[in-house]
Amino acid sequence: MHHKTIIEPFKIKSVEPIQMSTEAQREKFLEKAHNNPFLLDSDQVIIDFLTDSGTSAMSANQWAGIMRGDESYAGSSSWHAMENAVKSLTGMEFILPTHQGRAAERIIYSYLGGKGKTFISNTHFDTTRANIEFSGAEAIDIVIPEAHDPALIHPFKGNMDLGKLVQLIAEKGAKAIGAVILTVTNNSGGGQPVSMENAREISRICKANGILFLLDCCRVAENAYFIKMREAAYKNKTSREIAVELFSLADGAVMSSKKDALVNMGGFLAVRDKAIAEACSNLLIITEGFTTYGGLSGRDMEALAIGLEEIFDPNYLEYRIKSTTYLGEHLHKLGVPVVLPIGGHAVYIDAKKLYPHIPVTEYPGQALVCELYLKGGIRTVEIGSVMFGKYDDAGQLIPAAMELVRLAIPRRVYTQSHIEYVIETFSEILKDIPKTRGYKITREPKFLRHFTSHFEKL
Ligand code: F0G
Repeated sequence: MHHKTIIEPFKIKSVEPIQMSTEAQREKFLEKAHNNPFLLDSDQVIIDFLTDSGTSAMSANQWAGIMRGDESYAGSSSWHAMENAVKSLTGMEFILPTHQGRAAERIIYSYLGGKGKTFISNTHFDTTRANIEFSGAEAIDIVIPEAHDPALIHPFKGNMDLGKLVQLIAEKGAKAIGAVILTVTNNSGGGQPVSMENAREISRICKANGILFLLDCCRVAENAYFIKMREAAYKNKTSREIAVELFSLADGAVMSSKKDALVNMGGFLAVRDKAIAEACSNLLIITEGFTTYGGLSGRDMEALAIGLEEIFDPNYLEYRIKSTTYLGEHLHKLGVPVVLPIGGHAVYIDAKKLYPHIPVTEYPGQALVCELYLKGGIRTVEIGSVMFGKYDDAGQLIPAAMELVRLAIPRRVYTQSHIEYVIETFSEILKDIPKTRGYKITREPKFLRHFTSHFEKL
């Protein structure tokens, strides 16, 4: 028989209580947090969809690995477990452990970057862009144009625009290109996947021009699953085989293992080139740690090695992607404008379309973020003009291209009934659209203002 209900392919051995609250209590909590859910305490939140990063539930096997962790400063067996797991997946010879993704980014981009260098990506994640720009180099995003239309259906909306890639190489000169970075899945572009065909072409173009090709692979297992589902030639391959093939096209990879390695902390840099590996190892030792731990505890490395295997369990991946899709498609059916098709780790909502009466200068995304918290205790993040907005010389807001809200789903943490609860909350939100109002910023820092800004309801 064909079952309609998505069941979690795991049983729960250890639980973490959720502190329930009433709408009246949440009103007070949000007021104290200056209408910025980043400033809430986690026990004031019922469903935490702020990020899928470092929020995974580890398996019993990973927890057993935590006990086995070897905390030796040099040459620990846990390091060897991690190194072997990363090598066998990436096929790359040199593996550098780091405490999280941005540490690996700082190392590789400070080495490859610098003034006059250009980096090209489908979409640079914000820490990637920050590390590149901090080195003095420039970061250019060239995702396919289809990605800019939230309602347009395309199987691989994370693909890079190959025409633009060729054009940029001709314009800048291959020597000035620090690296081409393919983000799989494309987080800032809606968690949309990249096709193998696109990756293969990028690899070919980079090879022909002697340009380094890197994967930002934090969600590589989710991307591989989408390739299996949507790219005909791969339907009989396993997701792991597909991931291995993706890595085979690249010269190196950066991973925030807090996503698809199912750990709460961890990351790595993997490269094929010995000279790059040596230079980066020097930087690693200066600020992160010795080459056999790089800022990680032995137990974290042990858990990472196990997580990197578990993530490719076909039952897990099917449940993971189906569950995210279920949430997104049910919201779509309710009439909530979502970014289509639904991505891997998150559902993105087009707040500009949901609240056409709230001008972008009054942050419709922040309005939805606050509504979700007040009505359901659901914490999400605005990815729009609060996050990316700038001011012109006259102090007028230069808005972001889109006003999105991200519902990022932690791995193996919430059940189907939590998902149903979120959908119910949206039914209430829709009823209150006409009386929902925008916000103004009353206090903001100079950089990364979404984290700490204060807001006032208009
Ligand atoms: N690259 C991508 C595509 C990411 O999504 C992230 C983190 C990083 C790099 C940086 O990794 O956090 O371990 O230093 N994304 C998180 C998020 C923060 O919420 O999407 P990190």
